[in-house]
Amino acid sequence: MSQEDLKFNNLFKEISIGKVQLRNRIVMSPMVMCYATSQGEINEQVLSHFEARARGGVGLIIVESSYVHPLGKGFESEIAIDRDSLIPTLHMLTNLVKVYGSAIAIQLYHAGIQACVEQPVGPSAIGRKVFPSPRTPRELTTTEVEELVEYFADAALRAKKAGFDMVEVHGSHGYLIAEFLSPLTNRRTDKYGADKILFAYEIIRRIKEKCGEDYPILFRLASCEFEEGGITVDYAKKIAKRLEDAGVDAFDITGGTKDTSDHIIPPAYYETQGYFFKNAYEIKKVVNVPVISGGMIIDPNIADEAIGNGIVDLVFIGRQLLADPEWPKKVKEGKLNEIRPCTACDECIGSISLPAPVICSVNPLKGFEYKFLNEDELPKAETRKKVFIVGGGVAGLEAARISSMRGHDVILFEESNVLGGITNLVLNEKYKTRIKKLIEWYINVLKSSKVTIKTNTKVTPKILKEEKPDVVILATGSEPLIPKIPGIENCVLAEDVFAGKVNVGNNIVIIGGGLVGCELALKLAEEGKKVTIVEALPLLARDEPRQCRLAILRLLQKLEVNILTNSPVVEIRRESVDIVDNLGKRATIYADTIVLSVGRIKRLDNGLLESAKSITNEVYIIGDAMKPRKIKDAIREGFWTAISI
Ligand SMILES: Cc1cc2nc3c(=O)[nH]c(=O)nc-3n(C[C@H](O)[C@H](O)[C@H](O)COP(=O)(O)O)c2cc1C
Ligand code: SF4
Repeated sequence: MSQEDLKFNNLFKEISIGKVQLRNRIVMSPMVMCYATSQGEINEQVLSHFEARARGGVGLIIVESSYVHPLGKGFESEIAIDRDSLIPTLHMLTNLVKVYGSAIAIQLYHAGIQACVEQPVGPSAIGRKVFPSPRTPRELTTTEVEELVEYFADAALRAKKAGFDMVEVHGSHGYLIAEFLSPLTNRRTDKYGADKILFAYEIIRRIKEKCGEDYPILFRLASCEFEEGGITVDYAKKIAKRLEDAGVDAFDITGGTKDTSDHIIPPAYYETQGYFFKNAYEIKKVVNVPVISGGMIIDPNIADEAIGNGIVDLVFIGRQLLADPEWPKKVKEGKLNEIRPCTACDECIGSISLPAPVICSVNPLKGFEYKFLNEDELPKAETRKKVFIVGGGVAGLEAARISSMRGHDVILFEESNVLGGITNLVLNEKYKTRIKKLIEWYINVLKSSKVTIKTNTKVTPKILKEEKPDVVILATGSEPLIPKIPGIENCVLAEDVFAGKVNVGNNIVIIGGGLVGCELALKLAEEGKKVTIVEALPLLARDEPRQCRLAILRLLQKLEVNILTNSPVVEIRRESVDIVDNLGKRATIYADTIVLSVGRIKRLDNGLLESAKSITNEVYIIGDAMKPRKIKDAIREGFWTAISI
């Protein structure tokens, strides 16, 4: 593609929302970071998070859902806008973002029945089914609802005073306003039940009355709840028309609730860039104000085309801006292969559920922008060192990238003929296209760095003695764990099945329901095989973020995979396994092939370690070689180790 083709004219065309002009059509979607203080105040971590993204060239930043009332707090350390004393620090944020040319809005919300408070409130005393709050919500009185309209309007006025160019009212994701809109959660008998749109309508009207008709309001609209009896796109069209009449200046289209949050923040299993475009287009047909939408976007071509084809007027980008805050700038400059891709692993949103501040699997600076705003600011090495990195998986790749960026002389050794380590086992799998992109990104950035890459090279004590590196980083990865179960020799390994090294039959038992076991089950079931997963613990994919677990479970269910949890395997034969169920009863499951997928153990050559230690004091073990974990751990260790040398 020539530079000419990469202009992305639609994406970088100016547009106005109400009276506010934006420099481009790229909107940073609101994302709770849990960086604020426990009282919801802005601090340095919040400021630097937004500064990095404004600097990256985004047109409009929408600050995360910010509670307008103390009972509306949805997450620990979320931003608050429920009192006037917050205005000065909020002003610091708007001033900072505007320096870089971005406009800024703040999302106003009340978490309703999903609030993290002792006694949640909602339109009716109806909770969620899959993820219920500890307590059934209390139904708000009519007077309380009327008061809440004022709370939203007061918060909007605060936002205006604090310098926000506009506000976004959160009417999606199953929070209070969406709960009033939804027939699933609004069973009231008063005026707010008879007219389910009234609460939202009154909020928009009161904001306009308090802040002025020309103060722009965005409305994040639930276009679909993915639940029987919930909001549908036809109903959402009606809501949009009514709220446009009330004065909404642009709609931001999403969907889903806490019970269907796999659709709010879709994991890689649902790969569809522009996840909500279809619904957004339906809404766009019935309103005359700009429509924003997105979901899973990493490729600017898709965003640009959607605007060019009149599907949406602006696109929102969420996680991709966590993974790479410079996405807009790199897109504008046509540096597409420099964009670090979001892998849709959902570890970011997974952090919030812990609860913990948001991190990103692929961007180790996420949450640490207050230390280094971006990678240009990483400290240069005081002494240039000869750094040997042993192992070309993601931990080694990241350590090599950052060590070289800091000015060290880096040689990366990989025993096999390819980089990427264990990811190579699955790179061609349907659900791993983004991991493949990530490895391609590493290879691309390393190619244009000064790192010397030696594949097909096993590092030996002899090489270390001869070369005398100043630093040795061991990133030698992991290998399958083989538990001591009678008959274990009858199993084939999950990684060999993925690699196509073994043939499997039509009836398969997979021992181990972690992520690998589940993904292998999906693959084999999609090929038409009958699959059973046996897992010793009560949950499948237990270490995965909620959105991923939901998606995996839905897919396994759809493909009719047989799931046996709480079922430790006690004996394996050629064509059957024996499990013990909850009540201690032994049962036999027959299969053509039995696949083992119960985890991994570190692969570390102690001879090499000792030899490295005899040469230098600077020996580090990172990633799976330290302890088998996730990509986020491997990349983080690669990064921070490289910072420390
Ligand atoms: C960590 C995280 C926090 C989020 N918090 C919010 C929020 O505060 N308000 C909101 O409307 N959506 C929130 N979302 C949803 C995003 O705004 C966005 O709609 C969703 O991630 C899909 O877009 P993406 O695929 O580009 O990330 C959050 C998403 C993530 C990943
Ligand atoms: S944690 Fe995963 S899903 Fe979230 S932004 Fe980073 S790469 Fe994307």
